[in-house]
Amino acid sequence: MRILSIETSCDETAISILEAKGEFPHATYDILGNALWSQIDIHREFGGVFPMLAKREHVATIIPMLEKALIEADLETTPSEVDEHLAAELQTILNREPELADKLLSFQAKHGVPQIDLIAVTSGPGLEPALWVGVNFARALALLWNTPIVPVNHMEGHVLSSVFDIERDDMLSDISFPTISLLISGGHTELILMKDWGHYEKIGQTRDDAVGEAYDKVARMLGLQYPGGPEIAKRAEQARKEKLPEFIKLPTPMLNSGDLDFSFSGLKTAVRYAVADKELSETDICAIARDFEDVVTTVLLKKSLAAIETYAAQTLIVGGGVSANQHLKRMFESSFLEKAPDVTVYFPQPKLSTDNSIMIALAGHARAENALAPRGADVIRADGNKSLA
Ligand code: KG4
Ligand code: ZN
Repeated sequence: MRILSIETSCDETAISILEAKGEFPHATYDILGNALWSQIDIHREFGGVFPMLAKREHVATIIPMLEKALIEADLETTPSEVDEHLAAELQTILNREPELADKLLSFQAKHGVPQIDLIAVTSGPGLEPALWVGVNFARALALLWNTPIVPVNHMEGHVLSSVFDIERDDMLSDISFPTISLLISGGHTELILMKDWGHYEKIGQTRDDAVGEAYDKVARMLGLQYPGGPEIAKRAEQARKEKLPEFIKLPTPMLNSGDLDFSFSGLKTAVRYAVADKELSETDICAIARDFEDVVTTVLLKKSLAAIETYAAQTLIVGGGVSANQHLKRMFESSFLEKAPDVTVYFPQPKLSTDNSIMIALAGHARAENALAPRGADVIRADGNKSLA
C-alpha cells in the first residue's frame, strides 16, 4: 500500500510518500519521497508560533512540498481531465484557502494522478487554523485522485515514529505489552498505557504547562531563541562540560505527589524569580539551563519509572519533540538499565523526534481500516484538542 501523508499541525509543512509492504504492525516501509519545510525562521522573530501566520505559510508551501515529495518518489502517473463539476467541488472544499484550488488544478494538469492508495492527514491535536490547511488540502487531493483518506492523531504518529527504525530495518520494533508511552512535546506531557497497538489509556498528564512549552518559556526568559528546547539543551551541555556550580535550587514539582501527573508552571515561575533584575552572563545562562534541564529530567524519569512499576510494563516509548534531548535520553537509558533492566526503552531517531510526516504515514497505515471514501470525507474536522485517550 502506498501512502501519502500530510502534516500541518504546527510550524512544519510536511508531505511524505511511504510504501508499506505487509500488514501493520509487521510491515516494512520504504520512504519513497519526503519533503519538510520548517517555518521556524519565520516564527523565531516573534518568539513563538502565531497560528494565523503558520496557516498562511502552510498555504504557501503545501503544493511545493507535494511537488517535491512526488518528484522524489518518481511514481507513474496517469493524465487526467478535471471537469467543471469537480473543479467546483474543489473550490468548495478549499473555500477557506481559495488560492490553493487554482494552484492545485494547475498542478494536476502538469503532473496527472500518481499511484497512491491512501492519503493520511493529521487532524489534531495542534493549532486549528494550521490543521485545517492540511485537512482541506488532503480532502481536495482525495477527490482529485479518487483516493481513500484517513484522519490521523499527531500523537499516535509520535508514538509510532519512536519505534520506527529507519536506519536498521525499516520496520516497527517488535515491542512487548503492556507498554508505557511518555509523550513530551510543545503541547503535551502525558503518560499513556498501551495494552496493545492502537489502544491508549491516559494515566498521567501535566496539570498546566507542557514540558516543551516550559523549555520555550524559560529560554525566552534567558534571552534565547525560539524554539527553546535545543537552545537550552546546548547550554546545559556546556555547563556539564565545564562542571559549573548550581545557579539556582529549583523545586522538583510533583515529584512525590503519589500520582503520575506533572506540573511545570511553578518551575518556570521559579526561574523567572531567580533571574529577575539580574544581568546574566553567558556562564550564568548555561548554569540555569542545566539546573532547569536536570529538574525536568528527574521528574520525567521518576514518573516514568513509577508508571512502569505500577503497570508492570515491559516497554517504555518516549516520543514528541522534547525526546530529541540527548541528556534526557542518556539519563533514561542509564537509569532504566540500573533500576528496570528488563524494560526496553525506545527513543526516536533524531530526524524523527520533532514533527514530520513520516510518522503520519505510519499512523495512517495503523488506521487504514478507518479510511473514508473521498466524498464521505467532509466528516473529517480539524480538532486542536484531539485526544489520544
Ligand atoms: O513534537 P514537536 O516538534 O511539536 C509539537 O507537537 O509540539 O515538539 C516541539 C517541542 C518544542 O517545545 C521544542 O522546544 C522541543 O520540542 N524540543 C526540545 C528539543 N528539541 C525540540 N526540547 C528539549 N531538548 C531538545 N533537544
Ligand atoms: Zn509533535
